[in-house]
Amino acid sequence: MTSTLETTARALVAPGKGILAADESTPTIKKRFDSIGVESTERNRQAYRQLLFTAEGMEAHVSGVILFDETLRQSTDGGTRFADLLAQKGVVPGIKVDRGAKPLAGSPKEKVTEGLDGLRDRLAEYRDLGAGFAKWRAVITIGDGIPTDACLHVNAHALARYAALCQEAGVVPIVEPEVLMDGPHTIETCEDVTTRTLEATFEALFRQGVLLEGMLLKPNMVLSGSTCDVQAGVDAVAEATLRCFRRVVPAAVPGVVFLSGGQSDELATAHLSAMNAMGPAPWELSFSYGRALQAPALKAWGGEADNVGAAQAAFLNRARLNGAARSGAYTPEMKAAAAV
Ligand code: 13P
Repeated sequence: MTSTLETTARALVAPGKGILAADESTPTIKKRFDSIGVESTERNRQAYRQLLFTAEGMEAHVSGVILFDETLRQSTDGGTRFADLLAQKGVVPGIKVDRGAKPLAGSPKEKVTEGLDGLRDRLAEYRDLGAGFAKWRAVITIGDGIPTDACLHVNAHALARYAALCQEAGVVPIVEPEVLMDGPHTIETCEDVTTRTLEATFEALFRQGVLLEGMLLKPNMVLSGSTCDVQAGVDAVAEATLRCFRRVVPAAVPGVVFLSGGQSDELATAHLSAMNAMGPAPWELSFSYGRALQAPALKAWGGEADNVGAAQAAFLNRARLNGAARSGAYTPEMKAAAAV
């Protein structure tokens, strides 16, 4: 029998669709708004999220949206709760439940994600508010002598505890161990660290009895460090990422939903498309992008009500291009064709 967890996980990676990560915490959305000179007030945050969620036809390429606590409790100007609006469109509302990455005791250059205390009760409330899935992000940094095994294991342990609690509550966990792209390291180092990270993560998930069919993995792609002199090309990234994942991600996991992690929107789409074009993988290869879906929309909006239509068009365009990347059908020319 297929459980609700499996049905929801599969719906989130339906063909041609992926996830919009719109769960920026209050400090993170402030950073994004600062970049366009807009004050981060509750009203502006509601207006911006409303623009994304009401964009007509977004459901053609968006299967789910990750929300922040404040957003899950907000409504449209007309009084419809965002969670209800999304559900009416057939889009699954999700919720970020971690409480951020904090310095790791004993190794302060590394981080461990907090938020387990009280999580069972918070999940029950989020479920009642309409959340069908959740997200927890662990942050792994590459540097001199790091990541340590200790960092990988405490983060994996927390991810697995979170995932088990989600499944107990009937909420699909998105397990997000992000190896940051910051730094001068090579793509080979990224592949090695990503392999170690995923190996530790799946060991902890297995040990804690997490149902692999009822979860999704949200990883980084295997990339050259952002300040590495030699930047691997699109096909090299796709090959390294697939090789790494085939070794350590069990085939029972229904989908891999990549984060964009600071890649340009075009590259994030090109990498995803290249992976899907490289032939069958045991899991759906999809997206759960924040910046790579929102950057042009945020810029087009600029905090002005008059720009809502242009911002929605920019968002829908990125959603459409990433929808094409789900089947390996994206080409850079598609962007030009859509830029009217
Ligand atoms: P980016 O795609 O901007 O990395 O955001 C995805 C996300 O949810 C990070 O936790």
